[in-house]
Amino acid sequence: MVAGERPLLLLDCDPGHDDALALALAARHGELLGVTTVAGNVALERTTANALTMCEVLGLDVPVHAGSPRPLVAELRTAEFIHGTSGLDGPAHPPHRRTPASDDAVGFIVDTVRAHPGALWLIATGPLTNVALALRAAPDLAGSLRGVSIMGGGVPWGNVTPAAEFNILVDPEAADEVFRSGVPLTMAGLDATHQWMIDAPIIERVRACGGAAAAFCADLLDFYGAAYGTVYSDRNAGPLHDPVAVLAVTHPQLVTTERLHVAIELTGTHTRGMTVADLRGVRRGAAPNVDVVRTVDATAATDVLVDTLAEYR
Ligand code: RIB
Ligand code: CA
Repeated sequence: MVAGERPLLLLDCDPGHDDALALALAARHGELLGVTTVAGNVALERTTANALTMCEVLGLDVPVHAGSPRPLVAELRTAEFIHGTSGLDGPAHPPHRRTPASDDAVGFIVDTVRAHPGALWLIATGPLTNVALALRAAPDLAGSLRGVSIMGGGVPWGNVTPAAEFNILVDPEAADEVFRSGVPLTMAGLDATHQWMIDAPIIERVRACGGAAAAFCADLLDFYGAAYGTVYSDRNAGPLHDPVAVLAVTHPQLVTTERLHVAIELTGTHTRGMTVADLRGVRRGAAPNVDVVRTVDATAATDVLVDTLAEYR
């Protein structure tokens, strides 16, 4: 991508606190053609409502299309223990009369990709159900998407289980179809996203931006950090997962990637949902299929985040 270019983007998401910040970055640094929602952090009705709320907060005139209410095969599991009952707990949500543009996220994805052959990035920050269904409906998408940049997986660790990260574990069958589709794929896993921890001093920089949008995001990050502090560690700081999948496209200079073969474990008793990356470096291993994000320049990423939120009112 040429420096300074605003890439064409679709954002498929399950807001979710970090999805909300990903939306703010995508709308500012890309030409965001639409948002599609999927069940994940909370049920589809809530992720869709949250996407509409975040568009209101950010003042975005972007269509929101609702997608899959459940994974392809697995039972839906959700993450209220991190994101709260609403999925965006923390700030008071502003009133709005926004409604979804459709309940056909898959059809919107297919039509939009086909309208921009070779030019569109699909950024997926939730379970990959919609993405897999779009590839099933239109296998030609694998060759016409510029790429798919996901937040998901981890090399080698998970968060819901020692092996599996939430987005992949919610719908491993969908992830398996996406990873085997041949689509140009970038993966921001937990080993990368945990390099970008959002603590109190950063949240104060966000709040100091001024404006209602930055205040809303600061309240989101306060809640998110406290939730992580209670579940994963004694440190009130949350890893900013989903924005890494956006920055890997809009600010590729802030990450490093490595091409690896990554397979999705579907059947392991202890490893279902694991992203199994081949780090052996052998000559005759399976051909690499993913650009795996290995490092994130957290200091620069924080500056981008703060500068971006300062531009919203
Ligand atoms: O494991 C982190 C991922 O799961 C993030 O996308 C978060 O929003 C949740 O969807
Ligand atoms: Ca998410």
